Amino acid sequence: MNNKPRKILVTSALPYANGPIHIGHLVEYIQTDIWVRFQKMRGHQCIYVCADDAHGTPIMLRARQEGIEPEQLIARVAKEHRADFAAFQVGFDNYHSTHSAENQWFSNTIYERNRDAGHIAKRTITQAYDPVEQMFLPDRFIKGTCPKCGAEDQYGDNCEVCGASYSPAELKNPVSAISGATPEQRESDHYFFKLADFENLLRTWTRGGHLQAEVANKLDEWFETGLQEWDISRDAPYFGFEIPDHPGKYFYVWLDAPIGYMASFKHLCDNTEGLEFDHFWAPDSDTELYHFIGKDIIYFHTLFWPAMLHGAGYRTPNAIFTHGFLTVDGAKMSKSRGTFIKARTYLDHLNPEYLRYYFAAKLGSGVDDIDLNLEDFTQRVNSDLVGKVVNIASRCAGFISKRFEGKLSEAILEQALFDDFAKAGEKIADHYEKREFSRAVREIMALADRANQYIDEMKPWVVAKQAGEEQTLQAICSMGINLFRVLIGYLRPILPATADAAEKFLQITPLTWDVLATPLKGHTIGKFKPLMTRVEPKQIESMLEHSKEDLTAQSAAETKPATDSALAKEPIGETIQFDDFAKLDLRIARIVKAEHVDGADKLLQLTLDLDGETRNVFAGIKSAYAPEDLQGKLTVMVANLAPRKMRFGVSEGMVLAAGPGGKDLFILNPDQGAQPGMRVK
Ligand code: 2FM
Ligand code: ZN
Repeated sequence: MNNKPRKILVTSALPYANGPIHIGHLVEYIQTDIWVRFQKMRGHQCIYVCADDAHGTPIMLRARQEGIEPEQLIARVAKEHRADFAAFQVGFDNYHSTHSAENQWFSNTIYERNRDAGHIAKRTITQAYDPVEQMFLPDRFIKGTCPKCGAEDQYGDNCEVCGASYSPAELKNPVSAISGATPEQRESDHYFFKLADFENLLRTWTRGGHLQAEVANKLDEWFETGLQEWDISRDAPYFGFEIPDHPGKYFYVWLDAPIGYMASFKHLCDNTEGLEFDHFWAPDSDTELYHFIGKDIIYFHTLFWPAMLHGAGYRTPNAIFTHGFLTVDGAKMSKSRGTFIKARTYLDHLNPEYLRYYFAAKLGSGVDDIDLNLEDFTQRVNSDLVGKVVNIASRCAGFISKRFEGKLSEAILEQALFDDFAKAGEKIADHYEKREFSRAVREIMALADRANQYIDEMKPWVVAKQAGEEQTLQAICSMGINLFRVLIGYLRPILPATADAAEKFLQITPLTWDVLATPLKGHTIGKFKPLMTRVEPKQIESMLEHSKEDLTAQSAAETKPATDSALAKEPIGETIQFDDFAKLDLRIARIVKAEHVDGADKLLQLTLDLDGETRNVFAGIKSAYAPEDLQGKLTVMVANLAPRKMRFGVSEGMVLAAGPGGKDLFILNPDQGAQPGMRVK
């Protein structure tokens, strides 16, 4: 390697601890992971940390709905997040939580240092208060009629119908989305971070090459509007850290979220010999710090974050790398189309490396959205990875194992071709370094075409039949294997599991960038096993169907949807008018038959008798009931729900269930009654 080893600390945004990872989130984790793996292959010290973002009102309320403590909720979700990331080969060096001792210490320290330097102000503000829940309401928990166009059921700060922005106080007929009560206006003391104190620093920093041009331009608009004081406190009840000198006041989740990057790194340092926190975070640090984020959280990372760090005497980041959103088949991910795909649902159907490859093939260094076109996905994975790359090895390896006991030639047959492959390495590295992954992929695939062309021309299958051409056959196939090895090396940041399997087959140690220029000579390789299979369109169809089914099961098992940033427009505690409620025709029904549904993980098929009328209903209650427990019992159903076509048949209604989910899910049984106080959907 020509370059001096660098010391690099990298982060991805911290996912909220109240909902599952979905493929929209994965764009960022895969992008970051590819970059980190590339840096590691180049011989740099590159450390990748992340954590769950565990605080805030949505997490507090969700735990409450499930009837558990927030700590239980975040522990369960952390486990799921870790498993999903591991399955997608997202190789964090440390994964922590913002609800941790380290994070509390850094949050307090950063706050106190800024406070002591005069950057915190106290003001009394008037805010909507829910008298039933006895809590102040964040904007997104207030709904009402749009003051501009009169559309009903709009959220606290903007109207989805006419696009107007307003303050929640302007909403007509406001109601709390949690209790349905009319909010009162109440006063409370809040603490503010005086962002404008840092205007000079920020103007210089944002123009100092730390941001993509589009992002720097966006910031200019914000400077023009003026830097506002940032409200960093929230009143109890709140799940977060209490502010040191202000009992009953908590740090707003967005204050301690980015500090979670430091906390996770500190946790790693405490468990790693020779890794020094200060070395990476001191103002004069010679290390590099990069944050990968989505374009919805630019303000927090490019203004508040550098200012807070600077105000507390820490270094600022070298760069913030912002990416766009994911669309599926050209549209926003949609629950009804099944394109709102959870990481876990994807994993149940498809190889994670396909998605890593597809995202890489689409990702550039800009902030444009990327589209997952499912037909293109199938076609590209099949033609590039299976048809081109893996095929090179499968065309050559058989001859090497059968005819030469796995041994490659001592000499390289086509040195010039090999040199071309080796030389391409710097250009490809440059693309990776600049996060131009789609360009790197294009270069690599052009090389794969050349390798296949070479094999087409040399026709080893013809040579194999010619007497006395043993050495030529070995040399051609060895050449093919060597070209394959270089390609797999270049693809390794994108396809770590496939590269791993290829290294086992080649009987080599994990590839680094600099070994790629030296071919294998006289080396013995193992037996070839197919490294990747084709994507079948029916796998995709099944994944989409299951994404729809997930939702059916989810709505039966949960009272409210997850609220993470991608679901921010899904309110929890949405209220309906009495008239809407009155439309529900709830009837007692007898479960005359209950059966398993072939191929469905969560559903049971119920035959319900409504005093002579029979209904077929699919219910997501398999986690809690065996069919034999249900037969003959009474339940409550929504009898006038429009029939809905599902993968397994038409569902003609819905049974009512309550409970946190899993085993604790109770269909309402008028014989026994449900638990008192449990919410009923
Ligand atoms: O938008 C989000 O999903 C936040 N949980 C991201 C936090 S990133 C960092 F600041 F912690
Ligand atoms: Zn409106």
